Amino acid sequence: MYREKKASGEDALPSIDSIPHSTHDEAARQKYVAFLRKFVMADLSQDMRAVYENTVEPSFRANNGESPQHALTVRKAMEPKTFYKTWSSLRYNAQEMTWNSVQGEVERALPALIDVADKVAKQTPAGGTLRLNPDLSIPKAVSALDIHLMPGCFYTEYLEEDVAVGAVYAHGTKVFSGALRPAKNPGKGGVADSIAHYLKLKYPNFKPKRILDLGCTIGSNLLPFHRAFPDAELYGVDVGAPVLRYGHARAEARGIAAHYSQQNAEDTDFEDGMFDLVVSSFFFHEIAVQSTKKILAEVNRVLAPGGVTIHMELPPASAMDPYYNFFLDWDAYHNHEPHYAAFRQQDPISLLEAAGFASETCGLVRIPDRGGVSDEEFAAFARGEAEAPQHSNFSSYYLFGAGK
Ligand SMILES: C[S@@+](CC[C@H](N)C(=O)[O-])C[C@H]1O[C@@H](n2cnc3c(N)ncnc32)[C@H](O)[C@@H]1O
Repeated sequence: MYREKKASGEDALPSIDSIPHSTHDEAARQKYVAFLRKFVMADLSQDMRAVYENTVEPSFRANNGESPQHALTVRKAMEPKTFYKTWSSLRYNAQEMTWNSVQGEVERALPALIDVADKVAKQTPAGGTLRLNPDLSIPKAVSALDIHLMPGCFYTEYLEEDVAVGAVYAHGTKVFSGALRPAKNPGKGGVADSIAHYLKLKYPNFKPKRILDLGCTIGSNLLPFHRAFPDAELYGVDVGAPVLRYGHARAEARGIAAHYSQQNAEDTDFEDGMFDLVVSSFFFHEIAVQSTKKILAEVNRVLAPGGVTIHMELPPASAMDPYYNFFLDWDAYHNHEPHYAAFRQQDPISLLEAAGFASETCGLVRIPDRGGVSDEEFAAFARGEAEAPQHSNFSSYYLFGAGK
């Protein structure tokens, strides 16, 4: 997708992504886990919906005079079913196996990974920066549990200057979504690429000078903005030092000057009105609603007049049927994401209004993943002539946002 910096001369550093190597057996295992996840999340999930529609829902209706109206009611009706128990257990195990499948190669490569990240931080060949704050207190939402069962979560440091959890995230997410991502438009797609392309088509005069990504982890959904807006300065904020070290080394290897800092997004040290575009992806469902409210107020503060904020998130419960809400909220019970269901109960527009954004600038939209549709189909969507695919396994994204 990106052109890696060519290794030229003795001092050229390898791309941090390229350092770990899987053995034959590890590669086979990663492939197996990726396809197990596809089997569970696509094939078996479809069959489970059929079990609900053909047996569970009719029997519930016969006993209660109406269909289940809420996710929790569906959950109670589904929990005793062997199909659900099997699906849930397979899904849980596939989730654990995702991270486990890359831990060996990361562990073997760890000294080299740390060395490269450290050298990149000193040399900054592309001109980005890395600001860490060892005194930052890690919020409970991150420190209390290994979120989505990833060992060490986003912040644990096993060694000095550690990057291990950044590397596990980088390689594990490839296994996680490897067999599920739509591949109709090769080289394109993912959250940031889809949002940036949507913005360019819909608002051709919008040219952000500074872009901030909150809860950026290793910058996977920050760096694609460089391709769309090459003149923009990129900033990423996260509370986890190892993911930021990894993200910085990765950006530099791609020749992108991104500025990463270890800060709580609730209260950053950026100046008022510093950014023209503030984004986040897969972020708010992992933190408490109270924290989301503070962060959106902070977004309003750091956004420049004329600026735009866009957040990719799970669909709100109000936009989905009770069965799909039950299906999505599985993560709240079994994937160490305790805030997931509570976030989905919120009305995103009300959250933005409460943070001070004018109602008429707030909106919620579902956009296609750019990798799953042709360029013509994506453009037709941006013109309002086509609908985005229904939400399922990376086919489309829900965005909420506002202007200032
Ligand atoms: C699921 S990850 C986001 C993934 C990332 N945006 C991507 O697209 O790859 C959530 C991130 O938010 C970070 N985080 C959680 N609470 C935070 C806070 N209050 N301030 C800044 N970052 C936070 C976590 O450390 C974690 O890296």
